[in-house]
Amino acid sequence: MERGTGTPERRRRRLLVLGAGAAQLGLLEAARALDLFVIAVDRDPAAPGFPLADRRAIISTEDEPGIERLAEAERINGVIAPGIDWPVAVAARVAKRLALAHPLTPEVAQLAISKVKQRERFGEAGVPQPRTEIAKSLAEARAAVERLGFPCVVKAPDRQGQRGLALVEDEASFATAVDAALEASRSTSCLVEELIDGQEVTVNAFSLDGRFHPLTVTDRMRADPPAFGVALAHVWPSALAPAHVGAAVEAAREAAAALGIENGPTYTQVVVGSQGAKVVELAARLGGGHDAELCEAALGVDLNELALAAALGEPIPAQVLAPLEPAGGAVTQFLTASPGELRAVEGVDEALAVEGVARARIYRTPGWRFGELRIGSDRAGAVQAVGDSRAQALERAAAAAERIRFVTADVDAKALA
Ligand SMILES: Nc1ncnc2c1ncn2[C@@H]1O[C@H](COP(=O)(O)OP(=O)(O)OP(=O)(O)O)[C@@H](O)[C@H]1O
Ligand SMILES: [Mg+2]
Repeated sequence: MERGTGTPERRRRRLLVLGAGAAQLGLLEAARALDLFVIAVDRDPAAPGFPLADRRAIISTEDEPGIERLAEAERINGVIAPGIDWPVAVAARVAKRLALAHPLTPEVAQLAISKVKQRERFGEAGVPQPRTEIAKSLAEARAAVERLGFPCVVKAPDRQGQRGLALVEDEASFATAVDAALEASRSTSCLVEELIDGQEVTVNAFSLDGRFHPLTVTDRMRADPPAFGVALAHVWPSALAPAHVGAAVEAAREAAAALGIENGPTYTQVVVGSQGAKVVELAARLGGGHDAELCEAALGVDLNELALAAALGEPIPAQVLAPLEPAGGAVTQFLTASPGELRAVEGVDEALAVEGVARARIYRTPGWRFGELRIGSDRAGAVQAVGDSRAQALERAAAAAERIRFVTADVDAKALA
């Protein structure tokens, strides 16, 4: 393509990335490595991904008119929401209006960002899932839990990162959980679900022309309540028996098919228990916990690059999805901090010096106030390690995590509430 003075030059492909937080760092690094021209959107001027972008736009990733104007003005070639759900549908609609190639249609993206619509589709298609009821009030929620029984899970239908999510053991805390879910909800309803017992795995996959290619299946190690559902580590390979891993992959494949996902990455949370594999949720994007980087470390398949190619409408040959020199084990371990105001983060270089540790990400800068661990965004960072085996990768990640210290100072307890 000719540009400017007429010097023949391949114009840098221009990509709009919705979100510049910790969840997008891997994709932003991959975009930079490919020399894409990146315009990153985040309402937080201090978003850690901004330094990786060529241009930054300080607007909300949910401000659809603003994003569309920006997309037009920047003459983008593609748009992607790599790590957050709601903007996945914004990206699909903006791409359609601008006639850009995109892995998801707006209709499919809209299904993927709604836990209610997913449950409906899964029900119609026979995808295994927890029994779920929708409630618009405490009275409806009580009627639902009478049928489902305790313990149950209460959640907002259109949030992520455990906002408005609770495990409810008995009647005593039910009303509070329902109020919180209704409050967090963008609509007027919440979901009441049967609690599925078992080991949870994440199926990270990539679809190409309707064919679902499973990549890493990782064990999701979860925090205890009140941080219900928060991932403390993703561990590959899964310790589940191969047949159970296979059942999880099948459930994720069926979930993607039920939503009509034909192209691009999917991140599917599946609990495998005595009743088989059940789908908690599917996200039509990369995982927000550095899952693409873990896939690269585990299998040598660059999931960030694949997502970029899909967002730019570039051809993807199926052979790039074939695992290349798999590692023995690979682990993402999340870091937590004691409550208080962050003064300093120490030991990152020591952590990176541990053999097999390729990456340490620190989510917060001094001045940030940590509360107790309740939801995903209360986490402080993550380290990633590979090893000859799962056990060795776990040991190395733990050794690295131990070396990183978040120095926090007590602040007025009320300010942290
Ligand atoms: N019905 C359920 N049975 C068992 N565990 C559940 C259930 N629903 C949610 N969980 C747990 O809570 C986690 C988060 O649930 P869910 O995905 O519905 O909420 P979210 O706010 O979208 O969180 P995330 O951003 O991690 O996806 C799940 O990964 C799982 O560990
Ligand atoms: Mg989820």
